[in-house]
Amino acid sequence: MSAYTKKDFPTHKVRRFLEPGPIVLVSSAHKGKTNIMTMGWHMVMEFSPSLIGCLISSGNHSFEMVKASRQCVINVPTADLAATVVKIGNTSGRDVDKFKVFGLSARPAEEVRAPLLDECYANFECRLSDSSWIAKYNVFVFEVVKAHVATAPKYPRTIHYRGDGEFMISGGNTARWRRLFRPGML
Ligand SMILES: Cc1cc2nc3c(=O)[nH]c(=O)nc-3n(C[C@H](O)[C@H](O)[C@H](O)COP(=O)(O)O)c2cc1C
Repeated sequence: MSAYTKKDFPTHKVRRFLEPGPIVLVSSAHKGKTNIMTMGWHMVMEFSPSLIGCLISSGNHSFEMVKASRQCVINVPTADLAATVVKIGNTSGRDVDKFKVFGLSARPAEEVRAPLLDECYANFECRLSDSSWIAKYNVFVFEVVKAHVATAPKYPRTIHYRGDGEFMISGGNTARWRRLFRPGML
């Protein structure tokens, strides 16, 4: 292991190193309308119940839809959908029907009214679990109440945002350090 030579770095850009969770698409439904937004700022908060914190800016149309319906689906896209993922992030459901414009298929979910995005590798049906961070941070704490995951491939080519228009596409996998884990940590 070598020490790195370092320089001062702008604090507002440190997110580039901390955001490697996959970019996801959040689908929502309210009063007969559906919508989708692109989201990178999410965080696993608990195993069981399965809690995920999601930052949905209050200026987004999705914010109102998710806040009112108290539900959403977190969909995990893969690299083949990257262009669509960016376009979904560039547009607002206030102006366009993103399902129609981007030709995505919505499948009914089992536990929530928000639709599953068929083209995505995984779909997690979520119910709002804690609303206390919404007013202060625009953070919704969801419980995943039902999960649908593709049977193959084992390792999806998910996309991870590095800022400045760059994505990292998930790459190599190794179990080389597995024996170092305490069993309860696996
Ligand atoms: C790569 C990427 C990541 C994004 N991450 C977030 C995020 O974590 N939270 C957020 O509120 N908006 C995020 N956005 C912006 C929203 O996707 C964008 O504002 C979207 O158009 C909102 O759509 P809506 O108005 O239909 O809800 C991201 C956009 C891109 C392209």
